[in-house]
Amino acid sequence: MTAEGRSCRWSALVLAMLALLGKFEGAALGAEPELPDAARGYWAILEIPFVPPYFDQEVFDEVWREWPEPLRSKAAQASPEVRRKLAYARYGLSERPGDRRGLPLQFVVDAEGRWTPNCFTCHGGRLLGKPYPGLPNAAYALRTMIEETRATKTRLKKPWASVDWGLSLIELGTTNGRTNAVIFGVALGDRRDRDLNVVPQRRLPHYRHHDMDAPPLWHFRKKRRLYLDGFAEKDHRPLMQFTLDVSNSGKRVRAWDSVFRDIAAYLETLEPPRYPFAIDRALARRGEAVFNDHCARCHGTYGTHATYVEKIIPMDELGTDPVRLQALTVGHRTDYARNWLSYYGKKKTITDPAGYVAPPLDGIWASAPYFHNGSVPTLWHVLHPDRRPVVWRALKVGEADGYDRERVGLKHEVVERVPDGIADRWERRWYFDTREPGKSAAGHRFPEELSESERQAVLEYLKTL
Ligand code: HEC
Ligand code: HEC
Repeated sequence: MTAEGRSCRWSALVLAMLALLGKFEGAALGAEPELPDAARGYWAILEIPFVPPYFDQEVFDEVWREWPEPLRSKAAQASPEVRRKLAYARYGLSERPGDRRGLPLQFVVDAEGRWTPNCFTCHGGRLLGKPYPGLPNAAYALRTMIEETRATKTRLKKPWASVDWGLSLIELGTTNGRTNAVIFGVALGDRRDRDLNVVPQRRLPHYRHHDMDAPPLWHFRKKRRLYLDGFAEKDHRPLMQFTLDVSNSGKRVRAWDSVFRDIAAYLETLEPPRYPFAIDRALARRGEAVFNDHCARCHGTYGTHATYVEKIIPMDELGTDPVRLQALTVGHRTDYARNWLSYYGKKKTITDPAGYVAPPLDGIWASAPYFHNGSVPTLWHVLHPDRRPVVWRALKVGEADGYDRERVGLKHEVVERVPDGIADRWERRWYFDTREPGKSAAGHRFPEELSESERQAVLEYLKTL
């Protein structure tokens, strides 16, 4: 069975167990089912609202009225079911694997019909048309979704949620499939003391907003340190930064400790998907030898005797976009190093890392776009630094026909510049301009040591990881 199959079967199994326990319908909040830790962790992500809801069912059902033509007319004539699918496609949502009710993987929907975002908004994408928990969500249109649901609330005379006010205060994300997630964490952390109690803003918010492409969650089991610069020692508590919305008291956050232990246990079980198309095995074997000579010192080895070194590569040697490294300051990391999330310093925090950790490459064929900012559409372009597009647009991201088998990654269109006069902001946010701050596709020139035929072989090998 493929890993994708395994993951779907596994989720279906969890749902079946929940149904058997009779605790799933209506998902009485807090009524935690008796399951193995990892299954409880998956349940918690889908059923516990850790932050305030973004909107309610009525708003979601009515949001199509904010869409531009011709989509609005299409939605007006469609059945509610088709309309829901159109909304899912627009905002990068998908149905939960093994669930027939059409509930979104990316949101907790409670008995009152309130929609609260969960980890899978960023970490649950679609692979060849199917939802895959743990895969970066390359289609997540956070900013467009909030703009359009906020306008719907105004029209329906409903109150705004905190995220709606946030839209005016903080950049949510300028490109689909990426978010300003790190700065969300920094801004929320700045409102907490060492015990995570809410306090007034402690720093003038000179934040360096930048979009990031979420990493695959199946890396978790290989890691000893978390995040791109490896600043935090691996544990379940760093994941709790997600809960630091000011409406949650410190006491409430700390009470979720064991729930996040379960969530971490779930992450440990995640596996990368297997490449489902044909592989030229002889070529891939040649690629393996080249990879082991040129890439393994940073990215580790794969197969039966896999190794992973988890090395931090200094910025001047690496040369990819440096904004993420600078945006999280020594001050921010030092706060983290002293608070409850790091057990008041018992867990080792690196407060001034010099660069980025070379990530594991398991399932790398599936997690395009590449580099931490999602600036490079395919593995072929990672391997050909001088041929990376300056401005590009992904075609139907996440859908079967959006996958480029030849260059391994996203099918895309290269353009001179972002065209003027695109009225639909969602459409506009599919363009990626590598000249904008935080979006550089430069650096990581290591593949230049390789001949063209060696690069072809490595590309084939990368499909097997
Ligand atoms: C708004 C988008 C977003 C949401 C929601 C989100 N994450 Fe993330 N997550 C990210 C981004 C972006 C990073 C990369 C941050 C970095 O490396 O600096 C990340 C990093 C991580 C990492 C570290 C991975 C690694 O390889 O180092 C883990 C684990 C993780 N997230 C788990 C979670 C869990 C669990 C939740 C829910 C409780 C969650 N995330 C919610 C965007 C998100
Ligand atoms: C000196 C260390 C180093 C060497 C050598 C190296 N890499 Fe990397 N690689 C990195 C780092 C660090 C990153 C993360 C860069 C970022 O996201 O900004 C990375 C990122 C990548 C990515 C994108 C990962 C993702 O999830 O987006 C791929 C693919 C990759 N490397 C392949 C290779 C291949 C193939 C080779 C050999 C030809 C190689 N690398 C050699 C350090 C290295």
